[in-house]
Amino acid sequence: MLILGIETSCDETAAAVVEETGDPARPWQLRSSVVASQVEIHREWGGIVPELSARQHIRDICGVVERALGDAGVRDYDAIAVTQGPGLVGSLLVGVSFAKSLAWSRRVPLVPVHHLAGHIESLALDHGEMPMPAVVLVVSGGHTSLYRVPVPGTYELLGRTRDDAAGEAYDKVAKLLGLGYPGGPVIDRRAERGNARAIPFPRTRLTHADRNAPHLPGRRDFSFSGLKTSVLRHVTLRREALGLGERAPLPDAEIDDICASFQRVVVETLVEGAFETARSEGARSVGIAGGVSANRRLRAEARARGDARGLPVFIPGVALSTDNAAMIAAAGLRRFRAGVTAGFDLSAKSNLRIDEVIA
Ligand code: KG4
Ligand code: ZN
Repeated sequence: MLILGIETSCDETAAAVVEETGDPARPWQLRSSVVASQVEIHREWGGIVPELSARQHIRDICGVVERALGDAGVRDYDAIAVTQGPGLVGSLLVGVSFAKSLAWSRRVPLVPVHHLAGHIESLALDHGEMPMPAVVLVVSGGHTSLYRVPVPGTYELLGRTRDDAAGEAYDKVAKLLGLGYPGGPVIDRRAERGNARAIPFPRTRLTHADRNAPHLPGRRDFSFSGLKTSVLRHVTLRREALGLGERAPLPDAEIDDICASFQRVVVETLVEGAFETARSEGARSVGIAGGVSANRRLRAEARARGDARGLPVFIPGVALSTDNAAMIAAAGLRRFRAGVTAGFDLSAKSNLRIDEVIA
């Protein structure tokens, strides 16, 4: 069985073809994956402009889907998976409308997918099924969420960020330092040259329950806005001390140290959170997925911690960690096999919950 995946939730127009293998340990094989990034368009504005994003998806989607089918060398497929949410509603609508039209004209079933379920399934797509139960941390530009996965295809939310997502903190700190958008890759590079102990930025520990989410145990939540504020305070004080203007760049060596020290705190917080939760949940494996999982320090520290604990750690290759449609196709196959398909009244939902049942 072949499935075509379509993803347009944010600033990447993506399509991919994934094949079912019949091997329960390694259920899927990637046939093609095409991603058209809009980063160059949004860079000028210092962040994503939703209206520009939706319009660019419309321009790109036909070519991206044709290219994915061409790269896979297929003309026919047995189902279409599409990201239904969460994300920017105008952007999601392009993918959902396109997928519905295609499913209708090709007379194949349509499978709606939650974007974060896609990130979680990027792990099984890349490395085969994880030992269960698993604890998976999804860290992206819009989300920092911890899930318990008791059996493949079931995702239980254990904790999430109360404010900024980890990727968002990277993007905001990069903007503050004048490093441009997106912030993750450039901070990752600059951090390598800096001293990670140069500045003692604080780590936020949440011990209290979240008033807005009483069903979530507070100790598993994350918070990155305090860290972002301390970076801002540090940069302002340094500019004053050096007699620099309000937006003037700090010396390169200082920027490297700030990047390294900021990144150390983010990575410690994420790795601690994932492994503490894995221990308390009795997990047999740990997964880290989403755009921030491309971070080199995060990958290295998570692997080292896993080795020390004898716990297998799953992280997708870089191409599958940032937004792509291969993960949506894989999650779609999982759902299709669980009997989930959508009618043509399917609509995009910007705040879709992962456990929401879609008719
Ligand atoms: O998963 P993703 O591609 O899109 C969303 O679903 O949000 O994640 C994008 C985020 C951005 O905030 C970007 O700065 C961050 O992932 N990112 C990184 C790295 N590469 C991308 N963060 C840290 N280190 C990286 N190497
Ligand atoms: Zn994503």
